Amino acid sequence: MAYNLLKGKKGIIFGALNPDSIAWKVAERAYEEGATFTLTNTSVALRMGETAQLAEKTNSTLIAADATNVADLENLVKQSMEILGGKIDFVLHSIGMSPNVRKGRHYSDLDYNYLEKTLDISAISFHKVMQVCRKMDAINEWGSVIALSYVAAQRTFYGYNDMADAKALLESIARSFGYIYGRERNVRVNTVSQSPTQTTAGAGVKGMDRLMDFGERMSPLGNATGDECADYCITLFSDLTRKVTMQNLFHDGGFSSMGMSMRALEQYEKGLECDCDTDNGSCDHKFD
Ligand SMILES: NC(=O)c1ccc[n+]([C@@H]2O[C@H](COP(=O)([O-])OP(=O)(O)OC[C@H]3O[C@@H](n4cnc5c(N)ncnc54)[C@H](O)[C@@H]3O)[C@@H](O)[C@H]2O)c1
Repeated sequence: MAYNLLKGKKGIIFGALNPDSIAWKVAERAYEEGATFTLTNTSVALRMGETAQLAEKTNSTLIAADATNVADLENLVKQSMEILGGKIDFVLHSIGMSPNVRKGRHYSDLDYNYLEKTLDISAISFHKVMQVCRKMDAINEWGSVIALSYVAAQRTFYGYNDMADAKALLESIARSFGYIYGRERNVRVNTVSQSPTQTTAGAGVKGMDRLMDFGERMSPLGNATGDECADYCITLFSDLTRKVTMQNLFHDGGFSSMGMSMRALEQYEKGLECDCDTDNGSCDHKFD
């Protein structure tokens, strides 16, 4: 159901690759709610992915930009303002990638060049986007900027690897930039910490299926889906949340406040029958 929550609002949406992408779902919902926007991704992703179909469906223009490249971002913001006819009201940063995860590097054996890439793509790019927007005075008063995060920023989730460090930095950037952008231009900046979701990026996380099952059993409301995440982002882009800023907002069915649920405990007890003995050295997962 549409409520016209974004009627007349303009934006830039990063990170829609295919229909599973959270950004894809946000774009569809933003369109339904009356927003106009540009869609952006790397030129490789635009060539390989399905974003052109989304652009057609939502009447929006595709602009290639590597979010780690400031010149690309300047061009993106300039072009977006030209196409949309003025300053924008919202930005979605829905970008994540870790070469260490992709190449299967263990967290205790990181490749540091890869780590720099992880941090640049998944966190520092958020700073770059906001710095470019601020310098170009591209965002209207009471505009809203969101990046997507994950609870591994606060707690250790084995397998999330160096993406956990990237998410911690991402959330810190939201607070630090949120202060400046809020004081100067009344622009709000938040991160949405989403449940594990089956997407291309999500599929790269070690043990994703089990993580999703664990989240489902632990969360009183169950895992939040990508569509539900899109709904939440729409409220944060709308005028109904104008005083929410510098927050990391958990959108996870209650997972982040849980210690142990009965459903998870019952499943754990079943698993005890085939416990792997970590003391006798026979277990491959001794340190996992
Ligand atoms: N899927 C999950 O379980 C989950 C949970 C919480 C948070 N998130 C976060 O949600 C966001 C979106 O991920 P998703 O799950 O929709 O997966 P996705 O793979 O659909 O989206 C990731 C996007 O990042 C883009 N990207 C990568 N490098 C880039 C660069 N240099 N410049 C511009 N774009 C680049 C990719 O092309 C892709 O479109 C990420 O920040 C991710 O960490 C995902």
